[in-house]
Amino acid sequence: MRCSAFIRIVVVLLTLLTTWYFAEKFYSNKVDMKSLRSMFDNKAEEAPRKKKVKFSCGNEKPCPDGYFAFQIISGAANVVGPSICFDNTIIMSSVKNNIGRGLNIALINASTGALIKTNAFDMYSGDVKPLLEFIKPVKDGTLVFVASYDDPGTKLNDEARSIFTDFGSSYAKKVRFRDGWIFVGGKGINAKSPFEQHIKNNKETNKYDGWPEVLEMEGCIPKKSN
Ligand SMILES: *[C@@H]1O[C@H](CO)[C@@H](O)[C@H](O)[C@H]1NC(C)=O
Repeated sequence: MRCSAFIRIVVVLLTLLTTWYFAEKFYSNKVDMKSLRSMFDNKAEEAPRKKKVKFSCGNEKPCPDGYFAFQIISGAANVVGPSICFDNTIIMSSVKNNIGRGLNIALINASTGALIKTNAFDMYSGDVKPLLEFIKPVKDGTLVFVASYDDPGTKLNDEARSIFTDFGSSYAKKVRFRDGWIFVGGKGINAKSPFEQHIKNNKETNKYDGWPEVLEMEGCIPKKSN
């Protein structure tokens, strides 16, 4: 009698211990995963803080809610291609293999932030026609990103220049052979864009042999509300 009661207690204890063991194992696995994740999160948050905080597109400043972050970098001489980042996604770059000498242009839906299309247009030995066919049909509510590489100016004609001017550009009319030019405008904005830089190819001031220095700009674009 006593003996069977003892065995029963032992069995109950063993059952409890086994349950606890598996529960603990299961639970601690979860805890481990969780703490692992928070470890990574902490690293992701803390590592850059030691240097400079980087936000969407690697920008120095965060964008408020309802804004798209962007960063745009012109090509360096005829050596390093330009890059365009929008809403934390690189949309044009050498790595993406969708850039080229001349004008690199990305069209984006200003309400949704969806990429419409990108293309590169040779402005030195190419024809201006493909560029015109690309920018003429651009619809209202489209953001237009432009980054120069090598020579953005030689083949630019008045028609193309005035379309960029309509997109809000202040410098499209002045872009010449081997100038640097980066620009973010939009169709139907009816204002001068604050997001534009232009640097002249000038022997006296060029950083590279034959080209001016790289242009780089970051900012926040308000989402278009319909
Ligand atoms: C942007 O996307 C919205 C929703 O899909 C669409 O209705 C609108 O026509 C698009 N605008 C442009 C300029 O593509």
